[in-house]
Amino acid sequence: MPIKWKTAIITLSDKGYAGEREDKSGPLVREMIERAGYEVTEMVLLPDERMMIEEKLKELCDERETDLILTTGGTGFSPRDCTPEATLAVAERNAPGIAEAMRYASLQVTPRAMLSRGASVMRGKTLIINLPGSPKAVKENLEYILPSLSHGLEIMKGITGECGSEAKNPGVKA
Ligand code: MTE
Repeated sequence: MPIKWKTAIITLSDKGYAGEREDKSGPLVREMIERAGYEVTEMVLLPDERMMIEEKLKELCDERETDLILTTGGTGFSPRDCTPEATLAVAERNAPGIAEAMRYASLQVTPRAMLSRGASVMRGKTLIINLPGSPKAVKENLEYILPSLSHGLEIMKGITGECGSEAKNPGVKA
């Protein structure tokens, strides 16, 4: 039986929080992650306020035993964008490969992928990943990292140390 990883989804958007824009990205993350067998334990909509984001991340990591937190939005260059700063402030260990992989994959789609400052880190036994804000970017980024996430979560939790069945990258010839 595959593990149903407890996943929290946080949408960061001033307009979404103010009710001026419908949040389509949070529900899309939910749909994709549930289809992959994960359990969504919390969906949150917050404004681009660094302290509020940090508090929520800490609560989800330290009090709720969340395995995975996926954020969407607030990774760009706008003066209000502060998701990576809040994420790095609560981080205990860096996991840069996931953010690097997302930019690598996204650059094949659009050169503007370089404009996402999203981070990927660990706090205790929770993995936190920043996705960009648009539904299109959510789909393209999450689609690429999803097949490797459960293996990373198993190692983070100490469930396995084995990397036996290596996954092949469809874009890279062995
Ligand atoms: N990544 C993918 N795969 N597809 C996209 O369309 N958009 C980019 C980038 N990453 C994009 C993407 C753009 S235009 C921006 S400004 C940044 O993500 C930051 O987005 P955010 O501020 O909504 O988080």
